Amino acid sequence: MTVGIASVGSYIPSRRVSNDELAETVDTSDDWIRSHTGIGNRHIASEEETTSFMAGEAAKVAIDKAGLSKDDIDQIIVATITPDYRDFPATANLVQNNLKMGNIGSFDLKAACTGFAYGLEIGRGLVLGGTAKNILVIGAEKLSAITNWKDRSTAVLFGDGAGAAVLSPREDGGGLMDSILRTDGSGYDALQMKVGGTATPYIPGTTPEEDLYLQMDGQRVYNFAVRVNVEIVSELMTRNGLTPDDIDYIVPHQANYRIILAASRRAKIPMGKYYLNMEEYANTSSASIPIALAEMDDKGLLKRGMKILTVGFGGGLTYGGNYIIW
Ligand code: ACO
Repeated sequence: MTVGIASVGSYIPSRRVSNDELAETVDTSDDWIRSHTGIGNRHIASEEETTSFMAGEAAKVAIDKAGLSKDDIDQIIVATITPDYRDFPATANLVQNNLKMGNIGSFDLKAACTGFAYGLEIGRGLVLGGTAKNILVIGAEKLSAITNWKDRSTAVLFGDGAGAAVLSPREDGGGLMDSILRTDGSGYDALQMKVGGTATPYIPGTTPEEDLYLQMDGQRVYNFAVRVNVEIVSELMTRNGLTPDDIDYIVPHQANYRIILAASRRAKIPMGKYYLNMEEYANTSSASIPIALAEMDDKGLLKRGMKILTVGFGGGLTYGGNYIIW
């Protein structure tokens, strides 16, 4: 038995904010954002569109597309760095409740933009170990809630949304074939939310306002991202006896067009192999890969037997990827 992605679904908030609209309140321009990131728009969640709400809506689409009912699901994994509640309960617990599912296992996974790649591999392990049969792996983020809208170097980069996959056993030998999950914790401070945890508690009247939001050393993250993109894609290919010609699509974390362009040049893999949609959704962290997969599925791009690599990179610094026979 192997374990495969039976279906994918997504939820995107309807409120679409173009670069020009953003430039009305942030000191930036459409030209700067497009030329430095490839981002043209982002979708921003309303107050009601919490992370758990978006996760649940994406899950409903995926369950339906798999031809299953919610009662067929026996585990929920939500990858997120923007949970409804900071520490607990987990966002996955809220999805279980909102969707009125049975008392199945559910937990959150915190691996930033690599969260979905981690979630797929953990889900595979649970199915192979016999703990679960059909697992929801969801990447969901409301990054607008932790964005410092006064900091133009980060405010232009992020968006909200959710993507979900149903993992199920397969008998044809395809599915999730291999994963690489890595961390370089020495870069923990290159991308972080400084305040709110036990290391740096919030102190009213003392904590600087900017420390309440996501902070990033853009150049450091950029250099890391290009390097590990090449590392993960190359290693997944070597480990599985693949050449670039064998790969149908690489679905990278949708952080920045220039990161992918530099990685493609270094790895000598044509840009046409990379599926990119950051122009429309910006960087949705752990949701970006499943949103991309769901969009590809809706466009009819994904065919049984296709060879697909995912590659994620982000806060932690985490990085990794999956090799999937669709
Ligand atoms: N609009 C206009 N000007 C801006 C903006 C903006 N939004 N942001 C920065 N600038 C200015 C700076 O002030 C600076 O001006 P100066 O030269 O007068 O001082 C100039 O543009 C260049 O700034 P840099 O920070 O050097 O710009 P850079 O070319 O490095 O691009 C960027 C910045 C796009 C953030 C880049 O570093 C990057 O892509 N980093 C990776 C970011 C990323 O993708 N992070 C997320 C991955 S992990 C995750 O998903 C959670």
